[in-house]
Amino acid sequence: MIGQTNGVPISITGLGCHVPERVVTNDELSTLVDTNNEWIIERTGIRERRIARDDEALTDIALPACRRALEMAGVDAKDIDLVIVATVTPDMSFPSAGALIADELGMPDAAAYDLSAGCTGFVYAIAQAYGMLASGLSRRALVVGGDVLSKILDWEDRSTLVLFGDGAGAVVMEPVDTGGFIGFELGADGAGGEYLWYPGSGSRHFEDPHSFVKMNGREVFKFATRVMVSSANDILAECGKAVDDVDVYVPHQANKRIIDYAVAKLGIPAEKTIVNVDRFGNTSSGSIPLALADARAEGRLHDGTLVLMTGMGAGLTWGSALVEWTNGRA
Ligand code: ACO
Repeated sequence: MIGQTNGVPISITGLGCHVPERVVTNDELSTLVDTNNEWIIERTGIRERRIARDDEALTDIALPACRRALEMAGVDAKDIDLVIVATVTPDMSFPSAGALIADELGMPDAAAYDLSAGCTGFVYAIAQAYGMLASGLSRRALVVGGDVLSKILDWEDRSTLVLFGDGAGAVVMEPVDTGGFIGFELGADGAGGEYLWYPGSGSRHFEDPHSFVKMNGREVFKFATRVMVSSANDILAECGKAVDDVDVYVPHQANKRIIDYAVAKLGIPAEKTIVNVDRFGNTSSGSIPLALADARAEGRLHDGTLVLMTGMGAGLTWGSALVEWTNGRA
């Protein structure tokens, strides 16, 4: 799916993020599996990640992010009428994390649900919220991206354990005067699903008694480098923008080598690119909003700043969003 938005100016007016307190270094992981700090840094760029406590679930991490986003937007929780939570690690299959969050924050008039699109979930969710807002069905949305992948990893499998971390981000989306979202590109290829999957997590029976995330790293790497470039180029072309028009590039934070490859192929200067995979690892659906929050904290988001976000992940899925940043509401 690809398209320019229909011109109704809708943007992000609030942004917040939250990560668990506990920092886990590469050295700490090397006491658990056969790995080492040098290998992890050289192959992934990751130095440390945040890991949730045993009693911390997705909504515990997402709620502080939501409160910050609402505060920045200056919006009362009761005025939110749509909550979408992009995650593959909700507290439980049902009730949805969306319903739990809406209840906890006090949003009695909100439609609330979860969306599963792997690490691309946040991009899918903002596209969906745009559609609901632009059509007039919703007036003000809270979109959350977050995961606690540490809960579904095999802590004896070095090929996945070193890559992931826990974290969440949230945005308020609503009508603005000018600017806002310009276009989206979203895709999925279920045929490649087995390269990154969590068998045993649903209604299909598997002989394998384990039910952890399993990944073919090399295949995911090839897929990621391909779609990070094609999705970005496609959305720019669709919206009549050039690579040079991009002011801030927010790529999914899976691996510094994947980001470096995309930056080089696209021709986006490193100074325009947000990188925090070194501090957080791959936080799945939390990755893009966490990076967006870093961009804001670094003072990079101003009225008119053109932001390109591109994600990829389980599904296999990918997606890009192009937004002209706006500070303030309609
Ligand atoms: N520590 C030390 N050695 C390791 C580790 C580790 N943690 N993991 C693998 N190795 C070894 C391998 O066994 C192999 O050894 P061998 O040569 O003796 O066989 C060697 O290191 C090289 O392994 P490769 O798999 O070829 O290493 P590669 O350079 O491909 O890096 C990596 C592996 C980092 C996983 C890379 O393939 C990658 O980043 N893939 C993409 C993963 C990804 O982004 N996943 C998330 C997608 S988003 C989502 O939806 C969640």
